Amino acid sequence: MPEYERKDYTDIYGAIMSFDKNKETPIHQWYPFVEGYASDFIKSIVDELNYKPECCLDIFSGSGTTNLEMQNMGIKCYSFEISPFMYELSRVKLRTDYTLNNFDNNVRKLKKLISKSPLDIENFEKFPQNRNYVEKEGLVKWHYDTEVMRGILDIKYAINLINDDLYSPLFRIALASILLKVSNMYRNGKCISYKKNFDKRQMLSRLDVHECFYERLDNVFRLDIENIEKNNINQIVNNYNNCKHGDTRELINTLDNNSIDLLITSPPYLNSRDYTDSYIDELRVLGYMDNISSEQSYRSKTIRSHVQVKWDKNNPLEIPLLIDSYNKIKEYEEEFWNNSLLDMISGYFWDMDTIFKSLYDKMKFGGSIFFNVANSAYYETEIEVDKIIAEIAENNGFKVVEIREARRMKPSSQQRKKFDYLIESVIVMKKELAS
Ligand SMILES: C[S@@+](CC[C@H](N)C(=O)[O-])C[C@H]1O[C@@H](n2cnc3c(N)ncnc32)[C@H](O)[C@@H]1O
Repeated sequence: MPEYERKDYTDIYGAIMSFDKNKETPIHQWYPFVEGYASDFIKSIVDELNYKPECCLDIFSGSGTTNLEMQNMGIKCYSFEISPFMYELSRVKLRTDYTLNNFDNNVRKLKKLISKSPLDIENFEKFPQNRNYVEKEGLVKWHYDTEVMRGILDIKYAINLINDDLYSPLFRIALASILLKVSNMYRNGKCISYKKNFDKRQMLSRLDVHECFYERLDNVFRLDIENIEKNNINQIVNNYNNCKHGDTRELINTLDNNSIDLLITSPPYLNSRDYTDSYIDELRVLGYMDNISSEQSYRSKTIRSHVQVKWDKNNPLEIPLLIDSYNKIKEYEEEFWNNSLLDMISGYFWDMDTIFKSLYDKMKFGGSIFFNVANSAYYETEIEVDKIIAEIAENNGFKVVEIREARRMKPSSQQRKKFDYLIESVIVMKKELAS
């Protein structure tokens, strides 16, 4: 087994990896996606290459940081994403045909429609029917106060009435970006939880929700639209049609052989978090999913990084580092909080194997891969995800150039006794030139 040393990149990557930096970057700021990386990370990679990439790929596109930044740099980029919400978010950010005039006209129309919204809007527009979504007698906690629900529905109804291919999706993303703010929830990492003392704070009115939405449109979106319109003349590449919705394990196979000379991506980490739970309100309230079976079908197509699906039984890949951690964790089987844990761990690396197998033919000789992952820990055992993936990539023909230690992450409270931190890294790989 090759011995991979990690190179310390914490000084460089510490400042540019977190999505926080995107919160004030034009267009990237339209929706704060906690699990994303910053646009500067993408720029730093292109800067260090000794060639100008012709075609890039991001196989887990999330909020679309890679494809948008590539578009800004005039580089073609394919991107794949399973979440219908994240997919729409990326596509909205990649459009370049917005104009200030049309934006302003549509906002005016929207405001007029909202001001004439029926008082009993809940009879005209759908809101999730889940038991704890809206305040009602007998509930102690709920996601949305009744007036807040009505405020959201007014906006959603108006967006649907506008029914514009370009501006309705944009307004939906603007609405998504205020959803948690007006709700009783916050994102706590793993899922969403109730804000502390939510029932004691001052309730928002229906109009407050509208104002919060208009404020976002006027102060964030409008300025960016103005700049998009100005820069549109210089736009040489548009990645909108290269952004695809679906399971990356299938979509990779649709690419031409020898077509990709740069891959930058960050898969879900092996931390048993399901993005479906973290973004469940956006998915449900905005209508991307409206029943349990669509939710289940979506979850079952995600990479096996969580236990919200009962995964099929499977044995781990024959990689000593993996087998070693797997067997140590297996010793605690009787204490497991979920009996899919081992199938998740082995399934995750099978998924990575499937991906690297398909990727090999799609990459050009000499092409580079930057793969951002994080290590995990279960039952006092660390899983060195970066080193295991490095070995999977090598087994599928790639050359691992180096593993860069990017950041040190706080482990979950159960693991803190044993581990001070878990490493997040960037695996740098190449498809070497044929000799
Ligand atoms: C860590 S995030 C990527 C973040 C991205 N780099 C950014 O800056 O926004 C991983 C993404 O992989 C997506 N994903 C999970 N399983 C997938 C699958 N089978 N096919 C495509 N995307 C998937 C998740 O929905 C999530 O958006």
